[in-house]
Amino acid sequence: MPALNEPVVPAGSWSSGPQPQIEGDGLRLRPWRAGDEAFLVGAYADPAIQRWHTFSLDDEQDAAGWIERANRKWLTERGADWAVTDGENQLARIAFRTLDLEYGDAEVAYWVAPQARRSGVASRAVTVLADWAGKAGLHRLTLQHSTFNEPSCGVAQRCGFALEGTAVRALRHADGYHDMHLHARLLD
Ligand SMILES: CC(C)(COP(=O)(O)OP(=O)(O)OC[C@H]1O[C@@H](n2cnc3c(N)ncnc32)[C@H](O)[C@@H]1OP(=O)(O)O)[C@@H](O)C(=O)NCCC(=O)NCCS
Repeated sequence: MPALNEPVVPAGSWSSGPQPQIEGDGLRLRPWRAGDEAFLVGAYADPAIQRWHTFSLDDEQDAAGWIERANRKWLTERGADWAVTDGENQLARIAFRTLDLEYGDAEVAYWVAPQARRSGVASRAVTVLADWAGKAGLHRLTLQHSTFNEPSCGVAQRCGFALEGTAVRALRHADGYHDMHLHARLLD
């Protein structure tokens, strides 16, 4: 079937190289690696992270499986996952929950460990990743959060993601369906 449009980013152009380490604004975004297990188990035990991400990790073995799956995403070009650090300590997670190189878009997802919150880690990490994604050829990033998640709405607004609308009863959390704010930022 002949394509009528060129892909925004040619297939294979990201996965042919290793997942990059991205630096900026005092943060380092790097692939997850062995040694991150205890941090992940601790973070996913946090009630706020459980509330918005709907799962936990039983132990470090469980976390090792999570790391393996997170790193495999880069090879599929359907997502990508980074640990956010200050160069030394793990602070947060940032990811492309979805990624479509042909269309040139991705959905950003994140959480910040409780001890690292309220110092701009999420906002800086989203901005650093968005800048990188623009240089890597993406056209548009989206971001979704429950309408009850005001801190996440603050992150979206601070990072230039315009509110495009509300998807009604769009995502099921432990306490039932939530309305979701849909935000987006154009990169080109
Ligand atoms: C939401 C979350 C990622 C914010 O991370 P953070 O690093 O603390 O955020 P920042 O410091 O970059 O702050 C961003 C904005 O949110 C505000 N904010 C942060 N935490 C807040 C809180 N608990 N209550 C109200 N506002 C808050 C900040 O004041 C800032 O708003 P401003 O630009 O108007 O000043 C973090 O609280 C978190 O991981 N929560 C649990 C998991 C989660 O909600 N993930 C996102 C799912 S969509």
